[in-house]
Amino acid sequence: MINLNNIQFKYPKKEGFALDDVSFSISPGEIFTLLGPNGAGKTTLIRILSGLILPHQGKVTICDHDIQLKEYRVRRSVGLVIGDERTFYFRLSGAQNLEFFGGLYGIKRSVLKNRVIEVLEKVGLQDDAKLQYMRFSTGMKKRLSMARALLHDPDVLLLDEPNSGVDPHSAKSIREIIFSLKKQDKTILLTTHDMEEAEKMSDRIGFIKNGKLIKIGKVEEYKNLINKKRLEIIFNNTFSAYDKALVRDMMNQIKIVSHCDSIDFNDNKMRISYNGSFDMNRTLHILSQSGYDISKTNTIEASLEDVFIKLAG
Ligand SMILES: Nc1ncnc2c1ncn2[C@@H]1O[C@H](COP(=O)(O)OP(=O)(O)OP(=O)(O)O)[C@@H](O)[C@H]1O
Ligand SMILES: [Mg+2]
Repeated sequence: MINLNNIQFKYPKKEGFALDDVSFSISPGEIFTLLGPNGAGKTTLIRILSGLILPHQGKVTICDHDIQLKEYRVRRSVGLVIGDERTFYFRLSGAQNLEFFGGLYGIKRSVLKNRVIEVLEKVGLQDDAKLQYMRFSTGMKKRLSMARALLHDPDVLLLDEPNSGVDPHSAKSIREIIFSLKKQDKTILLTTHDMEEAEKMSDRIGFIKNGKLIKIGKVEEYKNLINKKRLEIIFNNTFSAYDKALVRDMMNQIKIVSHCDSIDFNDNKMRISYNGSFDMNRTLHILSQSGYDISKTNTIEASLEDVFIKLAG
């Protein structure tokens, strides 16, 4: 559905490439998430895919149309959410803004009013339809941006941080909208800095750094890059200052024999980070000999955040 081949892009007044030889494809019904540190090139890539800027080299096709040769066909198939509030008219209401953009998309007047009501309801803004855009909160602006992207029922959605600045309740409803679009076989390219969101939503993730796409894979493949795990031990005891000193002795003992990477303790929780060479049996033996009442032990896998930090360097 989306194909990028060897895309290169450079901003005029900036040294080096903002995108350097980026190639990948996204299938219909797929949610593909771009992750990467600030300034990696994610928004630049979304601008290219939406036709706002042209690549200096390489080829992009969306729905089999070359974005440079069939610009209008491509724009009709693409809905864009981008974090720039200046793309709305501040003095117009939410509904008036949508009617204006619906007109630009060529939606007939006879259906536009109903379509605007429909998308406003979808993003939960039906009660604020008449409010001027300049009076919208950050979250409302984001939701209106999502509504605008849905107006012409596009097959491809390009969502640049659709949930940044949005409260958890609205973020959840936007995620539900994205999932419902996936069910309708829409193709979705998403960027986010929320690792939990990336983990919940992505079919595949592309990691971009300094304009280069350095990895593509499923969440599990990313997690396999880090063999670090965490053992979390939760005690029932309340610890006196004397007990805490004893626990610290026990931690030193565990550190010496278990080959763990790090160990810390606060309140009633001990956390041990480890990798492949960790001796779990000796650790559990020391803990069971301590006489402290352990209520629970959890083994926690590496998180996507750990992977992000490793890849981002
Ligand atoms: N209009 C511009 N002119 C010059 N340089 C730009 C312009 N827009 C972006 N850049 C630079 O291009 C690089 C890529 O920026 P881009 O906005 O695509 O990154 P990003 O991955 O979206 O970052 P973030 O996570 O902060 O949104 C950065 O180094 C940025 O400073
Ligand atoms: Mg960005």
